[in-house]
Amino acid sequence: MQPDMQRLGDARIFIDRMAYADLESWHAAAARLRKSNPLPLVEVEGYVPFRAVTLHAHVAEVERNHTLFWNTRDSVLLPRAQIEQSRALGMDIKTLIHMDGAEHRGYRQVTNDWFKPANLRQQLGARLPELARRFVDRMLQQGGECDFARDIALYYPLHVIMSILGVPETDEPRLLELTQKIFGGEDPDVGGIQGDDPVQTIMAALQDMAMYFFGITADRRANPKSDIASTIANGTIDGQPLGDLETAGYYAIVATAGHDTTASSLAGGLEELIRHPDQLRALKEDPSRIPRAVDEIIRWVTPVRHFMRQAQGDYRLGDVQLRAGDWLLLSYLSANRDEAVFENPFRFDVGRRNADEHLAFGIGVHFCLGAHLARMELEAFFRELLPRLDHVELAGKPESMATTFVGGPKRLPIRFRLRPAA
Ligand code: HEM
Repeated sequence: MQPDMQRLGDARIFIDRMAYADLESWHAAAARLRKSNPLPLVEVEGYVPFRAVTLHAHVAEVERNHTLFWNTRDSVLLPRAQIEQSRALGMDIKTLIHMDGAEHRGYRQVTNDWFKPANLRQQLGARLPELARRFVDRMLQQGGECDFARDIALYYPLHVIMSILGVPETDEPRLLELTQKIFGGEDPDVGGIQGDDPVQTIMAALQDMAMYFFGITADRRANPKSDIASTIANGTIDGQPLGDLETAGYYAIVATAGHDTTASSLAGGLEELIRHPDQLRALKEDPSRIPRAVDEIIRWVTPVRHFMRQAQGDYRLGDVQLRAGDWLLLSYLSANRDEAVFENPFRFDVGRRNADEHLAFGIGVHFCLGAHLARMELEAFFRELLPRLDHVELAGKPESMATTFVGGPKRLPIRFRLRPAA
């Protein structure tokens, strides 16, 4: 470990990707910080100095105050050298999470209605249970043992997202590889990074993705349908069509944000149900509990570990006086175990009354565009899986992704007995 990481003590958990691979220790350190030093200053060579925001109330306060705390182009914590390199190459893609103010409002309004519950029900209401059945059947075909994270969880949300983006199934493996390079980039086991130049790998993947979606844009401009691809391709801001790069960026954010996040929740959710057979039984006995359980699962996993904000003026947050230009890391993972909001936060409880107060989807103007879709996907999967699942247990040690950004289980070996669909 670098000496300045060691000096940081508990606060190193926000910057050391390996800390996220050992979640028990990570959470123990975050719990100590919430008690004794809830806004630690994290200064490590090669990164901008920042305060980590560990309390639920503080994360919500910062996010709601979006005129003072901006996402900026640097809304994800990255080494300075990596940011500079991508700027120099002119390849830093700009999407919703890199925008603020009127620009963000205009851009978001293009797809906001498409992701609302009523439209999602119309577009996907009948299709989702069918897709869930297909992927539970795929589990059945694995013959009683599989790595649920890699064999199943990864593909189901990918298929949902790609089908709403109009990507043919035969192209999905290519898009999967690209989203993993973009999001799982820090963990070589997941991103498949070649050599030691993550910027090149991520940038090349983004460029490939942009090229791929140019074709889809052209098609939907010529033949508009009711899918999200057509909404993006024909979207306008102040009466003007989106530029080609902005259009590609929109596809990229929907494709990447909607995939690994939901896959991690699915695998993390099943892992916890296996570890808590009483909870699994409760859901099997009464499937009407599944929607609340889905929120508890998302709280528990919190696959988006952080986003950054930059103060645009002075502000007092808790006991800390912030100055214009200061950086904050919003730790959703810590906020969702905050004892002040969640009773017994380290208890996985599918009946938790206030599970939906979690901040795993953020809050405020950047609140996750796909939150409802993610919930629908998880609910459909568990509604299909649970009545057919006669037995399930761990068949090896689960492993977590070593990444500071979007992560969850990277391996979940399980043994199971599953019934064919009725
Ligand atoms: C369990 C699954 C998911 C989790 C935990 C998650 C989490 C998040 C978080 C934390 C943010 C930032 C919120 C903020 O800054 O306040 C976000 C933004 C976003 N998410 Fe999700 N997400 C999930 C699934 C999805 C899905 C399925 C989509 C599909 C389209 C999606 C699309 C987006 C987009 C486009 C944004 C940017 C919104 C904006 O900046 O205005 N997400 N998500």
